[in-house]
Amino acid sequence: MRKFLIDTDTASDDAIALIMALREPTIQVEAITVVCGNLTVDQAVKNALNTIEAINTYAPPVYRGMHKPIMRPLFTSEYVHGSDGMGNMHLPAPAGKAEDMHAIDAIIHHIMANPHELEVVTLGPMTNLALAYLKEPRIAEYVKRVIVMGGQGLGPGNVTPVAEFNFYVDAEAVEIVLQSGMPLTFVGWDVSMDKTFIDEGDIERIAALQTPLSDFTLSCTKVLQEHNLSQYGRRGFDLPDPTAMAVAIWPDMVRAEFETYGYMETKSEQTYGQLIIDRFHVHQKPANVTICQEIDANRFKQKLLELLS
Ligand code: BDR
Ligand code: CA
Repeated sequence: MRKFLIDTDTASDDAIALIMALREPTIQVEAITVVCGNLTVDQAVKNALNTIEAINTYAPPVYRGMHKPIMRPLFTSEYVHGSDGMGNMHLPAPAGKAEDMHAIDAIIHHIMANPHELEVVTLGPMTNLALAYLKEPRIAEYVKRVIVMGGQGLGPGNVTPVAEFNFYVDAEAVEIVLQSGMPLTFVGWDVSMDKTFIDEGDIERIAALQTPLSDFTLSCTKVLQEHNLSQYGRRGFDLPDPTAMAVAIWPDMVRAEFETYGYMETKSEQTYGQLIIDRFHVHQKPANVTICQEIDANRFKQKLLELLS
């Protein structure tokens, strides 16, 4: 059985990615580590625990992580996901609790206890993973691979014209991870806006399932749907974290990708958080990341419907 560790700033689309992972029979989620990003780390921990309880398959340990990015104040996204991050569902306090161990130590522990076996999926800012690496650099060698929701690929950003949210919140963390030598795949926001966007027909198909998890999915994305309409004039919603989760679970779903040398803009106020992709080897540096550009959207949507059924 493949083993996953998921690092998340749990809000609506993170929650749907957790549903996919915890309902997929071919993988075992060994641990969930939580980071600030969409929300404070405490609200994100609550959302992760509530989501695990709603899924009701099994309950991996949940570890609380960093409450702020490495260098900058926390920039949150209630304007995208609602004041609770869950479409204003305002769920009651979960029965479960986070573990005592800190997320940074949990990342190190789980990678080192499963040498070359653990696949890490990051769905939020990379603060936890970067600091775990600075504390124990051997994780770069012992992790099997790291699938990241982040960056804007070759397209525009969603926080600034050039920066995607997860990378904008903690660009220094991304730079540390890019220089670490970990085997990295980035699935940018562009993939979910262009290819796997959930349109009105998809919403009808999800609603028709009439399962607790299909209801949960449509409720927790309510504010995200409003945001897509007001910001982009599109009916429906994007699923960046589930798209990255799909690449992690079913690598053969990838339709286009390329290896490149990538680095982060961390100095400029205008372009802070931009992932710079050296597509045509201007720097003549070895590739440090694979950029996913497209996945099989039909198969993605089919799998999503199956796992919500
Ligand atoms: C990313 O930012 C967050 O709002 C989402 O959860 C996703 O991880 C998309 O830019
Ligand atoms: Ca996220």
